[in-house]
Amino acid sequence: MKIGFTETVLRDANQSLIATRLPYEKFADILPVMDKAGYYSVECWGGAVFDCCLRYLDEDPWERLRKIRAAMPNSKLQMLLRGQNLLGYRHYPDEIVRKFVAKSVENGIDIIRIFDALNDLRNIEVATDEALKRGAQVSGTISYTQSPVHTLKAFAKLAKDMENMGVSTICVKDMAGVMSPAEAYDLVSAIKKSVKLPVVVHTHCTTGLAFMTYLKAAEAGADVIDTATSCFSGGSSQPATETLNFALGQLGYETGLDAAVLKEVNDFFKPVRDEYLASGKLDAKMLATDTDALNYKVPGGMLSNLVAQLKAQNAMDKFEAVLEETPKVRADLGYPPLVTPMSQMVGVQATSNVLAGERYKNISKEVKAYCRGEYGKAPGEISPEVMKLALGDEKPIEGRYADTLEPVFDKTKEELKGIAKNDEDVLDYVLFPQVAEKYFAARKAKEEKKVRYTIAPVE
Ligand code: CO
Repeated sequence: MKIGFTETVLRDANQSLIATRLPYEKFADILPVMDKAGYYSVECWGGAVFDCCLRYLDEDPWERLRKIRAAMPNSKLQMLLRGQNLLGYRHYPDEIVRKFVAKSVENGIDIIRIFDALNDLRNIEVATDEALKRGAQVSGTISYTQSPVHTLKAFAKLAKDMENMGVSTICVKDMAGVMSPAEAYDLVSAIKKSVKLPVVVHTHCTTGLAFMTYLKAAEAGADVIDTATSCFSGGSSQPATETLNFALGQLGYETGLDAAVLKEVNDFFKPVRDEYLASGKLDAKMLATDTDALNYKVPGGMLSNLVAQLKAQNAMDKFEAVLEETPKVRADLGYPPLVTPMSQMVGVQATSNVLAGERYKNISKEVKAYCRGEYGKAPGEISPEVMKLALGDEKPIEGRYADTLEPVFDKTKEELKGIAKNDEDVLDYVLFPQVAEKYFAARKAKEEKKVRYTIAPVE
């Protein structure tokens, strides 16, 4: 029996515990060691890493990727991609999706995990096609959630459809850490029956289920699990790499991991973790178990957003009412998985329904766009009443929203003449215009300063 490990400290653990604030210099020295650990892959890019590099860390995300690539020649580098949203927050035209994927592979990515928040495969097919063409592996990803329409049969069919698209592996992605051991066992078994591909399982420790969930997933034949080096594990992050290596090893699984190297990696990150704890950037609460998501059927991150919203409006007395309204709104909208951006949409609508004292008196422009089909197809049926209230007589779009988008790359490149140094810069700007503009200006100022310093002695 074999089981592979994807180490997430550089991406998901970094993102879940310290809001992706880990600069390259803080982990550069350990990369050559990590390269010898025997991981199935190292998740190091995508998700919020790209945005945070530009927005908070004054780092070129592409350069970060190239440096990791150079330091880890023996490892498979992995990224997370939100399908047609890429790493941004809206849908992009196909030419941008293709260009972005091609550049990601060119700069060093081996495996792209591609998901869509609604599990609408039309939103992952272009990225998948381009990644495969460029020689990368694609991990076709199921956004895991629980609802009357998210049955084992529906998930198994999704896996089969992705296999037909040519993906290399199937990933079950539980962003909220709500998948139980029993559910993992049944789901992995059902997918294994439906497809011939390796199955990857991703979850978070948030509710305390994750270690047991992985064990049962392994028993059902999961081929890869996502874990984080122990000092960056637990709480809202992944289960610990060393612990699962130890436990599964004892049960007869071949993990391919070198325990001595894993210890070295963890020893390196301990003082880094302590530094973030001391500065308060790592909140000790993030490391604890929180079972509210199991009771309320609302992911932890969404719950804290709801509390913040109600506090801001001095309406905490309505908390229970909003919690009761949330699953009803979700049902009305056809059971979207409660992940970004759906979790925000459902949360805001539920709050508004309660505070206004009348359901759907106000409907956000995001919910209207969702009803119009701009995010993709809802997993279930959107309630006809809500549809009517949101759109009036307007008809939802037919086909894919991305098909309505005009190409923008050449035009943007022309606009950025003298500012963008390469196509990667142009892509930064297409995804995050304001953030990229600020980053380019800061970079220019830094370069000019450098030139002045170099010239100074001659003057
Ligand atoms: Co995750």
